[in-house]
Amino acid sequence: MPHDEPASDATRCARAPEPPRSISEPLAPPIQLASVYRIAGLDEVDALFEGRAEGFFYARDGHPNAAQLADKLAKLEGAEAGLICASGMGAIAASVLTLTEQGGRVLVSEGLYGKTTTLIARELARFGVSHTLFDPSRPETLRRALAEAPDARLVVAETISNPLLRVCDLEGVAAAARDAGVPLMIDHTFAPLLCKPIALGTTLVAHSLTKLIGGHGDVTLGAVVGPRDLIARIHAVASTFGQTGNPFDCWLTIRGAVTLPLRVERTSRTALELARRLETHPKVERTMYPGLVSHPDHALAKRLFSGGFGAMIAFDVGGREQADRLIRGLRAIPFAPSLGDAQTTVSHPCSTSHRGQDPAVLERLGVTPGLIRLSVGLEDVEDLWNDFAQALEFA
Ligand SMILES: Cc1ncc(COP(=O)(O)O)c(C=O)c1O
Repeated sequence: MPHDEPASDATRCARAPEPPRSISEPLAPPIQLASVYRIAGLDEVDALFEGRAEGFFYARDGHPNAAQLADKLAKLEGAEAGLICASGMGAIAASVLTLTEQGGRVLVSEGLYGKTTTLIARELARFGVSHTLFDPSRPETLRRALAEAPDARLVVAETISNPLLRVCDLEGVAAAARDAGVPLMIDHTFAPLLCKPIALGTTLVAHSLTKLIGGHGDVTLGAVVGPRDLIARIHAVASTFGQTGNPFDCWLTIRGAVTLPLRVERTSRTALELARRLETHPKVERTMYPGLVSHPDHALAKRLFSGGFGAMIAFDVGGREQADRLIRGLRAIPFAPSLGDAQTTVSHPCSTSHRGQDPAVLERLGVTPGLIRLSVGLEDVEDLWNDFAQALEFA
């Protein structure tokens, strides 16, 4: 839509430049920061709103960078469609808000990321949504809970739980949900590429892209992928509640995801080696890593995963004081309450991700004050071990 050359500098400055003419296309995706799109007329706007034409009108409803990232993630997970949200919690919240209503019930796997538990058990309870807990490594507990819950609307679990790294029996849990006719959402944040939950019968797969897929500690973003019609419903809810993601973070995540397979392979290898060393260290009371033979879900993890067991380890040094001394004793590895960065970080679930949860429940699950959660990055394994070995002396 070329416009006439204006006479005044004010007009010249105010108007957006015309798109450059080109017979070629950029090889890397451009960032498209526009918050609104120019539309030729009312027939075209009708066609856009009614889905008869492809395109964008308002960035909260969709933009090219989100569309590109959603498409990439849907293909990676083997899903029909995807939606990008402003954070992992945004994606989980939009999905739960779409699938529940007053009087409904969510079946929640025990030991989820603290904020997901808070969302369902505390925030949704205010709107009349109830929940029931089940053990994700024992699908019969879900079957029993579903049999007693005619009001069930959704089942939620994590492939590898945060922070205890328990593995969900995805096939068994998906079969129980399917037999009851209830959709299953799996939070796959800790296990990208290790397995494909959709192929195992999951309805929706959610990711915090802030973590391993973004991979560089510089984005806050989330995604949910699944059947096209359900994603369209979640998209409408996310747009109305203002939960969708911005172009720059989408662009960074597309860039970060380029190296995801290399990072998954490398961090899984380093994590297995560190977990083996931590397990035999005299200052460490428990080490949890699905790749260790001692892990309660090792056989399940071996059956489900290919290419490694992931970048996350949890270990217990005995108490809050010992955990604090270890954190302060680390010379190079930062205490930074996130995960999935290219550099190794440690966190303390009791005082960060699981802060404010019922202490009795945390104790029963094993989220103890001495628990350290370790997110393994790309550094040399010996450099990492040297830092842990010297810091463990303080613990
Ligand atoms: C397993 C898991 N799911 C979801 C989230 C939420 O992601 P975000 O921080 O991007 O909202 C987190 C954050 O730590 C997480 O660990």
